Amino acid sequence: MRKNIVAGNWKMNKTLTEGVELAKKLTTILTENKPNCDVVIGTPYIHLSEVAKTVDTSVIGVSAQNCADKVSGAYTGEISAAMVKSTGANYVILGHSERRAYYGETDAILKEKVNLALNNDLTPIFCIGEVLEEREAGKHFEVVTTQITDGLFHLSAEEFSKVVLAYEPVWAIGTGKTASPEQAQEIHAYIRKTVNDKYGSEVADNTSILYGGSCKPSNAKELFSNPDVDGGLIGGAALKSEDFHGIITAF
Ligand code: PGA
Repeated sequence: MRKNIVAGNWKMNKTLTEGVELAKKLTTILTENKPNCDVVIGTPYIHLSEVAKTVDTSVIGVSAQNCADKVSGAYTGEISAAMVKSTGANYVILGHSERRAYYGETDAILKEKVNLALNNDLTPIFCIGEVLEEREAGKHFEVVTTQITDGLFHLSAEEFSKVVLAYEPVWAIGTGKTASPEQAQEIHAYIRKTVNDKYGSEVADNTSILYGGSCKPSNAKELFSNPDVDGGLIGGAALKSEDFHGIITAF
């Protein structure tokens, strides 16, 4: 059966010292209270190597928040999937709405990133989701279909089964406005059906689909209790060990 996962996305927060401290705290907490789900932390690139040394990566997965769409070479400032892997990280968040909106990441670029992540044995956490105007116009189903189709459906069934999906309605990210459990279940079920139509029920049933957007200890249980919500991608609440742990204990 598919895995339940709580993944933290630290975004551009925390110095190296602060990041390592948080990773240490989480390690202590999760060693004392074994989680009932997989736990991943998505740190800034420069923290990856230290954090991967700090945590037991079989207990806490370590994720980058992006990787380059090129293998290597003259791309000043970029970080390749192979470099991410070499730090000890085992996941990479791809297609986050902030990357799509502020850094012009298109589905065509993301397709390359997904290929490179998989070639380097990194698990992509692939983000999809609509903006408010699209939700209000009733276009959210169409939007996520395009994002999955153009970013992922070139993969073989075997490759696709290594991908984790994260549905994050952009209007809920960092806004304190969470999708209702009904809204989350409705679109997660739709996403799973879309995967089912392409790859069949075995792959669809085994795909973890995380919810992201103002998820916190007070609403995680209700969101995660939906049959098609397999965990969360957590921004703000991943920055404090107590909050993040509060979400983990929703499982
Ligand atoms: P948030 O961010 O939990 O702060 O809303 C979620 C995300 O962007 O992954």
